[in-house]
Amino acid sequence: MTNQQKLNKLIELRTEAKMGGGEKRIEKHHAQGKMTARERIDLLLDEGSFEEMDMFVTHRCTNFGMDKTKFMGDGVVVGHGTIDGRVIYVYATDFTVFGGSMSETMAQKICKVMDMALQVGAPVIGINDSGGARIQEGVGSLAGYSEIFQRNIMSSGVIPQITAIFGPCAGGAVYSPALTDFIMMTEENAYMFLTGPKVVKTVTGEDISVADLGGADMHSSKSGVAQFKVEDEEKGLLLIRKLVSYLPQNNLEEAPLMDCSDPIDRIDDVLNSIVPDSPNKPYDMKEVIHTIADRGEFFEVHRNFAKNIIVGFCHMNGQSVGVVANQPNYLAGVLDCDASRKAARFVRTCDAFNIPILTLVDVPGFLPGSGQEYAGVIGHGAKLLFAYGEATVPKVTVTLRKSYGGAHIVMSCKQLRGDFNYAWPSAEIAVMGAAGAIEVLEGRNVAKIEGEEAQMKYVNEKVAEYEEAFSNPYQAASLGYIDDVIEPRNTRFRVIRAFQTLQTKKQSNPPRKHCNIPL
Ligand code: HXC
Repeated sequence: MTNQQKLNKLIELRTEAKMGGGEKRIEKHHAQGKMTARERIDLLLDEGSFEEMDMFVTHRCTNFGMDKTKFMGDGVVVGHGTIDGRVIYVYATDFTVFGGSMSETMAQKICKVMDMALQVGAPVIGINDSGGARIQEGVGSLAGYSEIFQRNIMSSGVIPQITAIFGPCAGGAVYSPALTDFIMMTEENAYMFLTGPKVVKTVTGEDISVADLGGADMHSSKSGVAQFKVEDEEKGLLLIRKLVSYLPQNNLEEAPLMDCSDPIDRIDDVLNSIVPDSPNKPYDMKEVIHTIADRGEFFEVHRNFAKNIIVGFCHMNGQSVGVVANQPNYLAGVLDCDASRKAARFVRTCDAFNIPILTLVDVPGFLPGSGQEYAGVIGHGAKLLFAYGEATVPKVTVTLRKSYGGAHIVMSCKQLRGDFNYAWPSAEIAVMGAAGAIEVLEGRNVAKIEGEEAQMKYVNEKVAEYEEAFSNPYQAASLGYIDDVIEPRNTRFRVIRAFQTLQTKKQSNPPRKHCNIPL
């Protein structure tokens, strides 16, 4: 064979490999509104940056006549490229090859890029569209999954791991995505469940559709398994590019600093009147976040799940900042099981990746009731408490209005090593709200008073007395639990300056094998 012939053979093999499971299967795949693995990768990464690895790998299974059906690259495309010039490792299952089902060799390919990413200190993005374990390979496939899970675990908190679900993801296969930092699902084609509708029907008799059991709507709003739901694959891939811009390459680096043309001392008069005079009236906390963030941009995470708390990223003076904020517009911003675990997870993600945390507080307390207690609100609340107390990244807290009781403590109070704790003049920092407090303190005295009107008058007087004494930030400020009471319109400037002074902050926790967060 001449060198030219050898070259031609290489080109031929590459062309064949790039066709995955072949033209017909690609057509069928496209007809479902889905992109192929390579098309997805191309859209995700900077143009022309993708370098594919292991495209000549084939499976080694001989069961069920499998030795007669081989596709180059097998059911996954792996390699590296860049997003905004930063190195990214990537793998995308190829549904056109045995439904993207996991073979032993596929798992080896995925593990190879995961190992490299960990050594290099670069994020891994996995794109999932797969029929699960390759049935013909039996337990070999399960071993492959386990190898991947082990690497997910070892990479956790070291390099960012992001998963896109663009098709089926069933059985134990769901656990690799679940071990990663962020999951994104498409509305139409993605679903995740441990057992599909047929098995559910057989075992429990329940009749349920694929979408209701494990679709993007369900996981992004009910289970909280997915942080993002997107309309289509293109939007999803662009969203991942954006997400990556808020994250560092690894746990030893900072997130990239963005140019900031937005003045850091911008005065936002609108904030001086955003909190209503009545403590029971809601307002939109997202408006506050957008107002103080660079260019008004806020990248929300988990938007549809536990809407009573908001989490997400913004830039402040170009620095990536994680925001955790109660939402008075939804359930009065109360903390419950879902809100607690949503925020706890986010706080830990920020802390793992050196992203400072801004906490905006307006919380009436924890949601009372048997439903919450039975669901373990104590444990879930403890997660958030733990996450804040354990975090060593710079932490700036601004209390806008209510901050009562246990919820006050949990929301990054001073004693949980809050670095700067500010309050607006409208802040009410107390053990509990005035009405509740007077009911407890004065219940017996009220009962002794004759006549409803007289009782009301007495209660109102006591409530006013309590409010005068406690429904303000000054008792906490007098004790140094609040570092300063600030004018709302100066919030952007004060927060940015606080983070600037904290840039060299060094704090560590005692050495231990690992903590025992109440999971
Ligand atoms: C081998 C598979 C496969 C699998 C699909 N295919 N799933 N091959 N192992 N698990 C093949 C099909 O034979 C077909 O091959 C091609 O992929 C496309 O599949 P279709 O069924 O034609 O596609 P579609 O109608 O879109 O349905 C997709 C599907 C369905 C819903 C994913 O294929 C399906 O239900 N597959 C089985 C899913 C499953 O039970 N997996 C095991 C779960 S247990 P041809 O040659 O015709 O193109 C598990 C345990 C993991 O995953 C544990 C990890 C710890």
